[in-house]
Amino acid sequence: ESSVTQLSLVGAIDQGTSSTRFLIFSSQKAELLTYHQEEIRLIYPKEGWVEEDPLEILQSVKTCIYKAVENLKALNISQENMKCIGITNQRETTVVWDKVTGQPLHNAIVWLDTRTASTVEKLIAQSPGKSKDHLRPLCGLPITTYFSAVKLKWLIDNCQEVQDALREGRLMFGTIDSWLLWNLTGGKNGGQYLTDVTNASRTMLMNINTLQWDTKLCSFFDIPKEILPEIRSSSEVYGHLCDGALKGLPVSGILGDQQAALVGQMCFKAGQAKNTYGTGCFLLMNTGEQAVESKHGLLTTVGYQLGKDQPVIYALEGAIAIAGACVRWLRDNMGIIKTSEEIETLASKVDSTHGCYFVPAFSGLFCPYWLADARGTICGLTQFTTKEHIARAALEAVCFQTRELLEAMNQDSGIPLKSLQVDGGMTGNNLLMQLQADLLGINVVRPSMPETTALGAAMAAGVALGIWSLKAEDLASITIDTFKPSIVAKERDDRFAQWKEAVKRSMHWVP
Ligand code: G3P
Repeated sequence: ESSVTQLSLVGAIDQGTSSTRFLIFSSQKAELLTYHQEEIRLIYPKEGWVEEDPLEILQSVKTCIYKAVENLKALNISQENMKCIGITNQRETTVVWDKVTGQPLHNAIVWLDTRTASTVEKLIAQSPGKSKDHLRPLCGLPITTYFSAVKLKWLIDNCQEVQDALREGRLMFGTIDSWLLWNLTGGKNGGQYLTDVTNASRTMLMNINTLQWDTKLCSFFDIPKEILPEIRSSSEVYGHLCDGALKGLPVSGILGDQQAALVGQMCFKAGQAKNTYGTGCFLLMNTGEQAVESKHGLLTTVGYQLGKDQPVIYALEGAIAIAGACVRWLRDNMGIIKTSEEIETLASKVDSTHGCYFVPAFSGLFCPYWLADARGTICGLTQFTTKEHIARAALEAVCFQTRELLEAMNQDSGIPLKSLQVDGGMTGNNLLMQLQADLLGINVVRPSMPETTALGAAMAAGVALGIWSLKAEDLASITIDTFKPSIVAKERDDRFAQWKEAVKRSMHWVP
């Protein structure tokens, strides 16, 4: 009897920007049995700064594991069936901690943070040709505030505790995957200090071809290689949980959250793509074993490597900083909704934005512009405008930004996407999905199980132990909904042209 026919359960830690989840899947049909979620506090110490508390993140993971396992017991399913867990995480967010005490040396600097804008300008000015694209051949990425290297550089340059730890050989750096893995496998008492190729590909320090920390990149940012974790594949046993409800279980999958969604959506062939709507919005296309350099402002990134001896699969990525974060802003900063879900009801009360366009460039503009000095703007206001119009314009902003990504992707790949596979928290919003189909002019295809990110991490973990086969029948419990465009091309293009005008008005706002 093969182990695939037994009930094998695989857990996934999904540590996102806005929340942490622990989900438990059955490896046979990818059925989601239970999960627990905790929201994460975002800290804004200054304008443009975005931080999170690494200890709060770690604690939220432990709580989610504990509560999801309790849920499992309530379903009368034995936790003995749990075989392994995977980790998927918000990428780029930078943590520094002390090897000896295990304590963080600073709050985590979140990927959205733009404090490094002036550092980035200086780095661009000192690079040959003064181009932000100067490092693309090495790491696939433009020099911007988004990636970890500049955040780590800022911490080393500006924080005394970090400097002291570096001098005394106590400094550890990691993206969230490394921070969690190290702590969950023993911390200062022998925790595993590792990262996976997908997370490493977001630091700007890994060479996109050799998949190793790159001497030129490290010296460009003045970062010693000794403080970096070892790079591993996305699917192998990294270590075992050292305590808690699942003590002893292997951790056998690690993927950055957008790459995990690519796996969870089974985009295993070159040309297949998915778009995930979370805090930000990320469109990734599998480009096979080739790292394709973007000519249209996209990123070249590692898609996955499902095992030490497996090939590395690359992806082209379009990244938007603000999607769900705009809904959270309308809730927390403006108070025009009480829960995130309410946005759908509010925006549905009007049949259009009546000329209102909302560019939520809170962290500057990401793909395809890469402008750290852009700021959010709302255009086309009249005395007729209400909060309903603004809510609808916020949803449309996500759709227009996705169209910008799709156009860049189609140009870079030369093969226009005929439909868009979507997932993530916001895809539960039917109005958003319909607007997306309308504003793209192609079908939008949504799986019935939106937790594709966590599923991808569980799949990577299960594959490492031979209990997940990555065949289409594994996804038997997942069905799809299709949203079809319902407006004519002229209307779609006119509105998009108007959006582009609004984007122009958000550019170069910071003096
Ligand atoms: O690159 C940032 C990304 O990984 C964050 O994902 O799901 O928190 O929006 P999410």
